[in-house]
Amino acid sequence: MLYTKENWGPVPSGWTRRRLLGLQELSSEELTILLDLADRFRKNVLDNPENARKISLLNGKAIVNLFFENSTRTRVSFGLAGRRLGADVIEFSAATSSLSKGETLVDTAQNILAMGVDAVVVRHGCPGAPRLLAQNLENCAVVNAGDGAHEHPTQGLLDVLTMRQRLGSLEGKTVAIVGDIAHSRVARSNVFALQKLGAKPIVCGPSTLVSPHWAELGVEYAYSLDEILPRVDVFNLLRIQLERQVVRPFPSLAEYAHLYAMNAERLARCKKDVLVLAPGPINRGVEITPEVADGPHSAILDQVTNGVAVRMAALWATLTAVAERRF
Ligand code: CP
Repeated sequence: MLYTKENWGPVPSGWTRRRLLGLQELSSEELTILLDLADRFRKNVLDNPENARKISLLNGKAIVNLFFENSTRTRVSFGLAGRRLGADVIEFSAATSSLSKGETLVDTAQNILAMGVDAVVVRHGCPGAPRLLAQNLENCAVVNAGDGAHEHPTQGLLDVLTMRQRLGSLEGKTVAIVGDIAHSRVARSNVFALQKLGAKPIVCGPSTLVSPHWAELGVEYAYSLDEILPRVDVFNLLRIQLERQVVRPFPSLAEYAHLYAMNAERLARCKKDVLVLAPGPINRGVEITPEVADGPHSAILDQVTNGVAVRMAALWATLTAVAERRF
């Protein structure tokens, strides 16, 4: 079946944003709209090879991927998502651009926009960079692909989408986010989404990486992974982000792994149907051991497939809001 604007139908009326900058500012209704859309793209397009290239919802649109930090999953999946929807996708390489000649981020984006681009997907090391672009780019969709330690909204969405598909509702479920909480945009986007969907998030890791101030947001914090193992429905295991750490928060990765790695012995002390997620990239043997990463409780590669579906939903929703001027 060739999906077109006519037979796919409009984006639900509860979605009016042309920017997806973070999950903190979304209502639970908006979150659910994006998750339901992503579910539709997953089932009707990605899981149905006959339909994979028969979709023209964004024909004639141009999307530019502006990535100022390294990426594998997010960059490739935004590129695939745009192409699967029929849009033209342009990859911008910061390293070979005129940024090295002193051009600012906003000037760079405005020049790209002047060429007729409809949407900008931006990953940047500075928190707030996508919002700065959104404030300076008229008539353009802007999607945050990760900004510093602030938010990674599409990662948060694909994480909760994977949980929802596996568990049904997230209402009342306990989800532990384990690892480098202090430097993690993924942890923040997860917490905001989980709270809005009725789940109970726990942030867990060494005290040097988990602030007690999380309690002020209504989030439980824990320093012992072993103590929380039996009562958790989902573990989301974060990478230790050595590249963002000014001072090493623990003596060695081996000591971190001793206390916090999800391994077969710890898995045996979890609920029998516990779900194990990781946003990637994973460091095997640090936050997760290979037998767990590749084992039956792991949904890590399913998360990656859901990443394409979520990014199709984010691009279609924000670009449709632009087209229909509903903002
Ligand atoms: N999870 C994630 O954002 O991965 P990448 O950095 O490879 O995009």
